[in-house]
Amino acid sequence: MEAITLHDKHFSPYITSDEIKTDVKKLAERLFSDYGHTTPLFIGVLNGSFIFMADLLREYPGPCEVSFVKVRSYSGTQSSGTVTEVIGLSDRVKDREVVLIEDIVDTGNTMVALHNIFEGHEPAGLKVATLFFKPEAYKQNIPVDYVAREIQNQFIVGYGLDYDGLGRNLPHVYKIIES
Ligand code: IMP
Ligand code: MG
Repeated sequence: MEAITLHDKHFSPYITSDEIKTDVKKLAERLFSDYGHTTPLFIGVLNGSFIFMADLLREYPGPCEVSFVKVRSYSGTQSSGTVTEVIGLSDRVKDREVVLIEDIVDTGNTMVALHNIFEGHEPAGLKVATLFFKPEAYKQNIPVDYVAREIQNQFIVGYGLDYDGLGRNLPHVYKIIES
């Protein structure tokens, strides 16, 4: 594996597709041991989760349902922060065992906002599973329920994750080379 360039930034190889495959399989087994007695509803958070979802679900050996949402964040005119809108959320989550599938949890702001919005739709249970987690960047008090792999506090691309639109299709994961 060689270093790559996306736009103006350089990235070096960090996690191979084989390593990710092992992490994903382990996570699928954990989820099955917790949800195998039910029919969970796995909801992928677009865009970043699309490759992870496809691989995770093919490793999940029980009955389940699958859906996707897209998160739109925009800055208000006030300095109070960000409003997050969830596109594609239907009422089908009511009374379901829901697992939100994230590509990465960084500060955790997105995860907490999503969690709060989904809670309002009264699922029977609500958990979050993420492929990557940056413990040093995480700013929330609540634990992340399922983490496939903890990573350093560095910007990564590949396997669904992008830098300004590029890099999602890379099978391996790369980390930024700070200049
Ligand atoms: P949050 O800081 O946990 O709210 O993360 C917000 C979003 O930023 C994630 O869902 C990703 O889309 C994106 N993100 C965070 N860290 C990275 C990274 O290292 N590479 C690419 N995207 C990232
Ligand atoms: Mg994302």
